[in-house]
Amino acid sequence: MMKIIIVGASGTIGKPVSDELSKRHEVIRVGSKSGDIQMDMTSVDSIQKMYEAVGEFDALVVAAGSATMKPLQELANDDFYVGIKSKMMGQVNLVLEGQKRINPKGSFTLITGILADDPVHGSVTLSTVNGAVNAFVKATARELDNGVRINVVSPGLVEESAEALGSYFPGHTPVSMHRVVDGFVKSVEGIGTGEVIRLH
Ligand SMILES: NC(=O)c1ccc[n+]([C@@H]2O[C@H](COP(=O)([O-])OP(=O)(O)OC[C@H]3O[C@@H](n4cnc5c(N)ncnc54)[C@H](OP(=O)(O)O)[C@@H]3O)[C@@H](O)[C@H]2O)c1
Repeated sequence: MMKIIIVGASGTIGKPVSDELSKRHEVIRVGSKSGDIQMDMTSVDSIQKMYEAVGEFDALVVAAGSATMKPLQELANDDFYVGIKSKMMGQVNLVLEGQKRINPKGSFTLITGILADDPVHGSVTLSTVNGAVNAFVKATARELDNGVRINVVSPGLVEESAEALGSYFPGHTPVSMHRVVDGFVKSVEGIGTGEVIRLH
């Protein structure tokens, strides 16, 4: 049994992932408003306090992080920093701080999405940030100490979000949640590292 921190555990993706992993492991649910511990992933101070409250752990899973959706012509500097501070540096800082406390042979599992590979109208900042996180994971896997692994799950639009978001994704076939959950299970319980686990 592992001790697993799940950031975004109350979300559309985070809840089924937490429910599955909690069948076999101790799960600590984290959100900015919900969960066992409250943490704002855009704040390094808040991330440090979360890790202090948890103590030793075996795996960190992220199913959170946002970015602006806007057409290219309307984008300005500040629009990019929403995603940079949240989905990019939020996840990067969770790894930078977490590597100091994670148990040997532990793992980090981050989240990106199909928009890194297959952009839609208005996704420029989210596509950019997703690409950065995918590259961060590949590079970080080569330098982590003590057999610690890192992967990123890149889901397509999930069926549960298709009603709300489907009009932004013309021609995309939504993916089943069980495939996305399996991607997280593979990352946490498997042996791979440096992988972008695409569930598109
Ligand atoms: N849904 C999809 O089809 C889909 C597809 C591909 C990729 N993704 C990506 O997957 C991730 C999760 O998506 P989702 O649809 O599951 O989102 P969601 O339903 O909106 O859930 C977001 C989760 O993140 C937590 N959260 C929000 N702001 C936070 C913060 N500042 N610090 C820490 N936790 C925070 C929320 O909890 P609180 O309310 O307590 O803060 C909630 O548990 C996103 O990065 C999204 O881009 C989603």
